[in-house]
Amino acid sequence: MSNIISIKDFTFKYPDSSVNILENLNLEIKSGEFISIIGSSGCGKTTILRILAGLENSSLLQSNNFSTSYMPQKDALLPWRKVIENLMLPLEILGFSKEEQKSQSEKTLEKLSLLKYKNFYPKGLSGGMRQRVSLGRALISNSDVFLLDEPFSALDAITKLEMQEWVKKIFNSLHKTIILVTHDIEEAMFLSDRIFVVSEFPIKKFKIYETKNFQGALEEKKLKEEILSLVRRYKYE
Ligand SMILES: Nc1ncnc2c1ncn2[C@@H]1O[C@H](COP(=O)(O)OP(=O)(O)O)[C@@H](O)[C@H]1O
Ligand SMILES: [Mg+2]
Repeated sequence: MSNIISIKDFTFKYPDSSVNILENLNLEIKSGEFISIIGSSGCGKTTILRILAGLENSSLLQSNNFSTSYMPQKDALLPWRKVIENLMLPLEILGFSKEEQKSQSEKTLEKLSLLKYKNFYPKGLSGGMRQRVSLGRALISNSDVFLLDEPFSALDAITKLEMQEWVKKIFNSLHKTIILVTHDIEEAMFLSDRIFVVSEFPIKKFKIYETKNFQGALEEKKLKEEILSLVRRYKYE
């Protein structure tokens, strides 16, 4: 598989700040890979997703050619729009006809087992369902790369497990590239091909783990302990 994201010697800081968040970073991600990023709070995980989504002013995207769907940390559904109208939004922005917006949204809702809720408002849905609608809205724009910022962190344990199973199933069938920010090491091990652990500030390189190299409960336990100690040792002040 070829690289979809190729970052060479990339440095980033916010314009009003004197500290680099990323410094001379090199990174390659293959098309179709599922990547998780783990790191302590404030280390720059959201910043990385925002740069890749083109939301920060940076030169990075000039040398890359991929479209992204960014799902921010907070569920950003529009409360005054019904479920189906929330899904139609990206297609509306892309200039699709009303009929096309409707039919594609219904197809996506069906895939997500949410079709019967299409006329509900977000506040009438459970947290897990709202997250599914958010993911649906990201999916419908059919981008190359999905950027998911701690999508399950606010969910209860059971709903979270269901969502993880569901995401694995959906993304396996879509063969898309996914970058997931998470605090949950087990989630990262369950979902991703590679785990990028942040253990320094500024970020110069990630410590990278390939999950396929870890087989069996004992090795997974070791990996979990190692990642945890890396993330804990490093705390951004
Ligand atoms: N718009 C901004 N301007 C200046 N500094 C910012 C901005 N957004 C985030 N930061 C700083 O950049 C660092 C990384 O933030 P962030 O990427 O949100 O971390 P994480 O998602 O890993 O918790 C933090 O120190 C944060 O305070
Ligand atoms: Mg964040």
